[in-house]
This record gives sequence, C-alpha cells and structure tokens, in this order.
Amino acid sequence: MTTLTSYLDQHSTNTELNDVITTVTNVGKTISQLLRKGALADILGEAGNQNVQGEEQKKLDVLANDLLLDALAENTHCAGVASEELDNATPANADGSLLVLFDPLDGSSNIDINMAVGTIFSILPYQRQGQTSENSDFLQAGNQQLAAGYLLYGTSTILALTITENVVMFSLDPDTGDYVLIEDNVQIDADTSEYAINSSNYRYWRAPMQQYIDELIAGEAGVRGRDFNTRWVAAMVGDVHRILCRGGLFTYPFDTKYAHKAGKLRLMYEANPMSLLIERAGGGATDAVNRILDIEPTDIHQRVPVVLGSKNEVDYVKNLHVNYS
Ligand code: AHG
Ligand code: MN
Ligand code: MN
Ligand code: MN
Repeated sequence: MTTLTSYLDQHSTNTELNDVITTVTNVGKTISQLLRKGALADILGEAGNQNVQGEEQKKLDVLANDLLLDALAENTHCAGVASEELDNATPANADGSLLVLFDPLDGSSNIDINMAVGTIFSILPYQRQGQTSENSDFLQAGNQQLAAGYLLYGTSTILALTITENVVMFSLDPDTGDYVLIEDNVQIDADTSEYAINSSNYRYWRAPMQQYIDELIAGEAGVRGRDFNTRWVAAMVGDVHRILCRGGLFTYPFDTKYAHKAGKLRLMYEANPMSLLIERAGGGATDAVNRILDIEPTDIHQRVPVVLGSKNEVDYVKNLHVNYS
C-alpha cells in the first residue's frame, strides 16, 4: 500500500513542497470530517457576508479558508497565501520558498444540499525570500506551478495531485487517516461524447459557443454524427474529477452576465490548477482559444473562460472559435 507520505518520499525531492502538500491535505482531512457531520457540526448555511467575488459566503467557505490559512501560517515553507475568500494575499513566513493559492471550498452552492464539494490548491515558487510577500508575487502564469491538486469530498474523499509529470489519485481511509494511492498515472481519452456546461447561460454566450452546444444537442442527425450526454455537478472539482475518470468536456465560457464578464471561474486558484491536472492527464485546457497555463495574470482574482477536458474536443471548440465568421 502506497500512502501520500511514501509517494512524496519516493517521487518528489523537494521536501519543502512535500511538507506544504502534507499541510494542505491534512486540513482536507478536517474538512472531510466536518462535512461527514454536516448539519450536526453547525457548518451549513450562510456566513452573513459577501466575499470579494460578490458572492454570499457560506459558513464552510469561511471555516475552510480559516483552517487552511491557520495551518499554512504555521508552515515555515509557506511565504504567503491567496484565497478566493480573501480580498488580498496574506503574507506568512518571509523565508518560505513557496506560495499557496486555494479555493478553500469549491461548489459552495452544493453545501446545503449535501452534494459534492471540494478544495482546489496551487503551489507557486516564491522569488523574494526574506521579504514579505505581496499580491504581485502571486502573479505567475500557471505553467510555473510546482504542484496542483484538489480534494473532492464526495461519497469518499479523493485527493488528485500532480507534481512532476503524472496525475495521481489517493483515497482517504477514514479509519486510518491515510491517503492511499489508487491511481498512479491518470490518462484521459482524446475523444468524448459527454459535456458539462450550465446551459441556462446560453443567451450570454458568444456565438461560436452557442453554435458548439447547438451541434452537441443536434446529436447524431447533426454535423457531429453522434449523440452526446451532459452532466453538471455545479462544483468544478466534481466535473473535473469525472473527466479525469472517464473523459469529457467541461466549459464555463465567456459570458456577458454582469458579474461574469470573462466567465465565472477564477484563473489563479481554479482554472490554473485544474488545467495543470488535465494537461498532465493528456487533455487540453484553454480559454476557448488560448492555453490557460500560458496566461500572464494581472490580478489574483481575475476570471477566465474555461474549456477543458478531452484533447480532441477542446481542439474542436478552439477551431470553431478561430474559424467562426
Ligand atoms: P465556488 O463555489 O468556489 O465559488 O465555485 C463555484 C464554481 C464552480 O465550482 C462551478 O463549476 C461553477 O461555479 C458553478 O456555476 P453555476 O452555479 O453558475 O452553475
Ligand atoms: Mn465562491
Ligand atoms: Mn470554486
Ligand atoms: Mn470557493
């Protein structure tokens, strides 16, 4: 049996990175236990304030954020953290070599209905050791990530992680508290007939995306010549996990809804870590045209349209956009 600890010892020589990953995943155990108790742990419902995104915060958004913040502040290798739930990055240990970005609780609208939620994390190098980290230190392209992963609090708690080249998955054993390796090289098919999108936003999409979805809905009688199926978890972690397990296409496209000018998803702690996982599993990840991991960020909370999953399908969407007239 390979545990997360033995996997890190065998596959990653960066002991500081391993230590920070261990800190994040240990908090994941606490969040998993809280979720198992649910209403009995008084963690459901609204926190009573809005976050920098303009969203009504859930109690668990705040609690998960604070658990990660407190744990990473104690980790000497963490120079600072950026979170969906914090207006600005928070400095930690100036001598640390790593920056940690996270979406502490992804899929918040699922919390109160007992549906899948997750935690997404991204780890970047800190270039100004000895100095207090600031927002600008986090503005690195996704191709600079040293590691990325997520915890999916589903019927079981799964950790997906990529450090060097592979995507690996662990399942949390609630009896021992160990993350046990269950997949050591996740690869996804280049083709798929399953897609994930919130179709209620159709009227806000650009024409090429409307055309793409129209083609999928037309099925076998249409230009694609086959029927498609759809799934929508309303938690990016759940949709991405399904794609890592059986392929598929996920998109939260550019939309003109007031609060979602570029789309709803955030580049630094949703799109970038998920794109690294998907690419390392042989998939593609774009903003419909450009590779997400090459985007040079200008703000820690900037949004980005996302199209990711089975490579040939992501390329099909890109060609549709590039050649659209
Ligand atoms: P978060 O709960 O961290 O704010 O993220 C929610 C995101 C993402 O997880 C999910 O794919 C998407 O919002 C769902 O959007 P809709 O509620 O518009 O379907
Ligand atoms: Mn949110
Ligand atoms: Mn999220
Ligand atoms: Mn969130």
